[in-house]
Amino acid sequence: EKGGYDYFMLKEIAEQPKAVADTLLGRIDGSGRLTLDEVRIPDTVLREADKVVIIACGTAFHAGLIAKYAIEHWTRIPCEVELASEFRYRDPILGRRTLVIAISQSGETMDTLMALRHAREQGAKVLAVCNTNGSTIPRESDAVLYTHAGPEVAVASTKAFLTQLVACYLLALYLGQVRGTKWGDEIHAVVRELARIGDEVERVLETMEPVRALARSLADKNTVLFLGRHVGYPVALEGALKLKELAYMHAEGFAAGELKHGPIALIEEDLPVVVVVPSPRGRSVLHDKIVSNIQEIRARGARTIVIAEEGDEAVVPYADHLVRIPATPTLLQPLVATVPLQVFACELATARGNEVDQPRNLAKSVTVE
Ligand code: F6R
Repeated sequence: EKGGYDYFMLKEIAEQPKAVADTLLGRIDGSGRLTLDEVRIPDTVLREADKVVIIACGTAFHAGLIAKYAIEHWTRIPCEVELASEFRYRDPILGRRTLVIAISQSGETMDTLMALRHAREQGAKVLAVCNTNGSTIPRESDAVLYTHAGPEVAVASTKAFLTQLVACYLLALYLGQVRGTKWGDEIHAVVRELARIGDEVERVLETMEPVRALARSLADKNTVLFLGRHVGYPVALEGALKLKELAYMHAEGFAAGELKHGPIALIEEDLPVVVVVPSPRGRSVLHDKIVSNIQEIRARGARTIVIAEEGDEAVVPYADHLVRIPATPTLLQPLVATVPLQVFACELATARGNEVDQPRNLAKSVTVE
């Protein structure tokens, strides 16, 4: 059942191109319009929503952080993202015009369930993004957009994460479509790109051998830092989470712009720092700023592991290790940038002799608060 792979996690990483394609299937018509029939929340409600609140835990929370960039950019509706475990206990402000999105692979996470119950009690509409048919979270929500990742067995979430991103992009584009906001060339370009993204993920998977070799060479390190900006920031958080849970290493993700506000003090000789570089096209200001960050940390001795688009030559002089990813529209970059980080964590865990599919102290679905 591991399909020839040593671990479920490896199998699930390899299944990502298909999982992504399956999640898109039937949801974009021939003219590039979104058809999300499952979103049974009436268009009037979606049109009148004045706030989106995303609640989730762990990896699903990281998907939510990325979704915020897409939702605000494409719909201009303010969007908050909150850890489900924090949300409910701080008396959040919700009303009939709040659209809550609960993201959960298992559909059974107690913190997320409690948060969505609280939201519904306040009159908010709740839409679940979920991978498990008929689980509790979709059953208790007003509507559900299923991710079609297939069963995820490894405790560490991989293909569920990529499909959560796809579902959130679809939802953001759909909200834009229903509300008639920003429905222009950019959105059409994104829809076209989404349709090909499974192939791009496949291309990334085909080039992972150097990442594995690099991971093995770092097996005796204690700390790895991750930096990113814009949607690359949640990708950095996700890379760090994977490393913690699988390799049991100290790993932290930072927003690159925060470096000088503290984290740069951590940089020392030979410290591995993974940097997720935004596209040099599009938001090129951010690209240039992160290139300066890479220079700064390298000047202080960091070993830089740079994840950058094909054709981005500006990073080359400062990358001790360069991992190439295909060029994508800025907001979609997490779909390709996360994959090397999953492979990196999985290989480091193996090199350190850890149980990849069943890390210590963790459970696949967290049904207690
Ligand atoms: C990390 C991981 C966890 C889950 C979190 C939420 O690899 O798997 O952080 O993402 O426990 O689980 P779901 O999505 O089932 O609500």
